[in-house]
Amino acid sequence: MGAFNKMDLTIDTEFLKDWKWNGKTALITGIGGQDGSYLAEFLLSKGYKVRGIVRRASWPNTRRVDHLDVFDEKYGKTEGSPFFLLYGDLADTISIRTVLEKVRPDEVYNIGAQSHVGISFENPESTLNYNSLGPLRILDAIRDMKLNCKYYQASSSEMFGISSPPQNEDTIMLPQSPYGISKLAAYHLTRMYRKAYGLFACNGILFNHESPRRGLNFVTKKVTGAVADIVVGKKDKLVLGNLDAKRDWGYAKEYVQMMWGIMQQDSPDDYVISTRETHTIREFVEETFSLVGLNWRDYVVTSSNYKRPAEVPALLGDCTKAEEKLGWKPQTKFKELVRLMLAADLKERFVERGIINPKSAPANQEFYLKKAKDLAENLKPKLFYKINANELNSIFQELYLILREKNVSYEVTERIKEELSQKLMGKIVSKEDLEKELREVSVQYKVREG
Ligand code: NAP
Ligand code: GDD
Repeated sequence: MGAFNKMDLTIDTEFLKDWKWNGKTALITGIGGQDGSYLAEFLLSKGYKVRGIVRRASWPNTRRVDHLDVFDEKYGKTEGSPFFLLYGDLADTISIRTVLEKVRPDEVYNIGAQSHVGISFENPESTLNYNSLGPLRILDAIRDMKLNCKYYQASSSEMFGISSPPQNEDTIMLPQSPYGISKLAAYHLTRMYRKAYGLFACNGILFNHESPRRGLNFVTKKVTGAVADIVVGKKDKLVLGNLDAKRDWGYAKEYVQMMWGIMQQDSPDDYVISTRETHTIREFVEETFSLVGLNWRDYVVTSSNYKRPAEVPALLGDCTKAEEKLGWKPQTKFKELVRLMLAADLKERFVERGIINPKSAPANQEFYLKKAKDLAENLKPKLFYKINANELNSIFQELYLILREKNVSYEVTERIKEELSQKLMGKIVSKEDLEKELREVSVQYKVREG
């Protein structure tokens, strides 16, 4: 419970005490991820036995579900236990078949994946292995072993790529990344196993969904985490990539309920799940900083390091089908999502820094946002520059003036310019650092001249 409390503002596990089996067993791949953890909680609350696949890691990768691991003393990893984890890997057919044989699930939720779009450009081969061949391995094992179970595939709005918004189940899919392509292959495999072999296999085409449990290197969590860091003085800037892209962001805790809903229909089908609202990354950033009374422009710098070779410019989901057939109605939209993510990060930082006592930490968002605002009032932002050719030119003009005043020769000036160029090009430095750098160069020069 302790470690987990750091991630959500509140967490209720009381329901576990009253757990009663509903007769069904669910297997979740990627149970240690954001969605996996919420889905496990949701299915346990519905009386499912939940089994999860985790891969071996040298450092804990089960933090998001450790709070659910409370049954071992009573049951061990036995047939009767409400919850336990098994080792497996989407790249390892043997492990998948072994787990399926052991668990004999009624419902398989395949939500494990290399889920980071940016990283998929760097690791395209393993991304396709886990995200496309992984589903193939599961689907084919279900077929071959003649398991009587339903299959859910975690498909993604990233598959729409450059198709214009709004996007729905009939929109053409033009993915822009190895990740998008890997998910599109899995989407078609799921449809093919449904058509060709009669499997109850469904795609949930989910638009971006976030939460305090979101991975640290997705843009929303990166932004709310950075604002919390800035407020407590742990950080003084935030470096981001493309601020113009638009995303339809919802709340993961609600989205996982639709994964289950899709599996409870009479016949298997594919559904878009979204909020029908889209916002730029810039708007997300602006909203987060403004909640603590800060101006984002004082802290945010952009860098090509976080830009992707190809981008999905705008996502906006048309979820009419899910609304009509599943009764889908998103409760948490953009502004509320930002608040709940930021409040959770603030709580974590305040506890970490001893600003509040974890034992008496209140559960309401307002407390954290108000305290953050008070702390932020005393912050003095540094101005940051991303040093590029233009910036260097103006720095050098200043340098020429300083050096000319000191009668420094043209050759020495050029050498210093070269040195500075190498040191600063591409770096992000504050105005103060820049002035220090210039001072140091002229002092250095005096020593040399002397
Ligand atoms: P996440 O937090 O990154 O979780 C992914 C999980 O998959 C992690 O537990 C990870 O384990 C596991 N995994 C990765 N490679 C694996 C492998 N080879 N074998 C077994 N497990 C593996 O992702 P998420 O946000 O919860 O997303 C859940 C699923 O929905 C993913 O398939 C994602 O692509 C898809 N999706 C997400 C969104 C979204 O906005 N969140 C939208 C549409 C679709 P480790 O902890 O060991 O890495
Ligand atoms: N990660 C990240 N980091 N993204 C940034 C940054 C940054 O520093 N700066 C700008 N962005 C932009 C990205 O270029 C992208 O346009 C947008 O922010 C969202 O990026 P992510 O949060 O990484 O999410 P994503 O939309 O690429 O992918 C997520 O949503 C998909 C559904 O559309 C992931 O959860 C995928 O797994 C999911 O399928």
